[in-house]
Amino acid sequence: MKAIIPAAGLGTRFLPIAKAVPKEMLPLGDKPVIHHVVAEAAAAGFDEILIIVSRGKECIIEYFAPNPELESHLDAAGKSDALAAVRQATSMARIEYAYQEKMLGLGDAVKIGRKFIGADPVFAVLLGDTVMQHSSPLGAMAAAWKTFHKPTVCLEPCAEERVSRYGVAGGRETEASIFELDELVEKPAPDRAPRLTSSAGSRLPFHAFAARYLFTPEIFDCLEKTTSGFAGEIQLTDAMEQLRRKTGMLGITWPGKRLDIGSPAGLIEAARALGS
Ligand code: UTP
Repeated sequence: MKAIIPAAGLGTRFLPIAKAVPKEMLPLGDKPVIHHVVAEAAAAGFDEILIIVSRGKECIIEYFAPNPELESHLDAAGKSDALAAVRQATSMARIEYAYQEKMLGLGDAVKIGRKFIGADPVFAVLLGDTVMQHSSPLGAMAAAWKTFHKPTVCLEPCAEERVSRYGVAGGRETEASIFELDELVEKPAPDRAPRLTSSAGSRLPFHAFAARYLFTPEIFDCLEKTTSGFAGEIQLTDAMEQLRRKTGMLGITWPGKRLDIGSPAGLIEAARALGS
């Protein structure tokens, strides 16, 4: 199965280092963040991957490319652990790359993957600057797809003071941890933010999108019709709301936690959480 990993953003919250080192290449343990994202996708069966990059972020391409000279050096020096680590980075998945010319937002980045996805009935999107603690939701999302044949988004609880930073979902629980969504809003004010309702009818805390999505290729037509929204960017959430109206959309909650490394505080929190 295929996945798109957008990693072209400017990373302004990580300046000045993001001028020279993409935030997706910052280390979590002995590996860059995006290594963990590719490993998560591949482990869930999404091992044909398109990474969206931008000019200046070529070290991402270099990281996943074989380096025969380095490998033969490590081999000759008997450094078998280092050799295995280097080879593992390049053999997890089949990776292609596409450039985003102007950083017009996450929706624009995903749109670039249309040709790569082709006629596949479903594909994953994983944000390149977010790793998952405890477990990946992709397995549960793929299982929901097999049963319901609807696009699915991963959701996690979000404190009221943070809803205006994320895409937020409203909907009704139809099975344990699976919600039929009825409204998606990007960065709403708390008093306009939709809510989930449990199967027993109680209102749940706010839930935001947690950086993992399963889409049908119809998302591309929705993205083509999406004009710039919040902050002048092509918002993926706006296209998702169109797709939801057309085909329906599910949200799932899972026992893990999203670790967003898009800011210095987020990277420190992720390093602590993963014990690296
Ligand atoms: P973010 O919105 O967190 O990334 O996007 P950003 O724009 O780089 O961050 P700031 O706000 O300037 O600090 C989440 C993911 O989507 C990618 C980013 O690289 C990141 O992995 N992205 C974002 C793109 O590929 N293209 C875009 O136009 C925007």
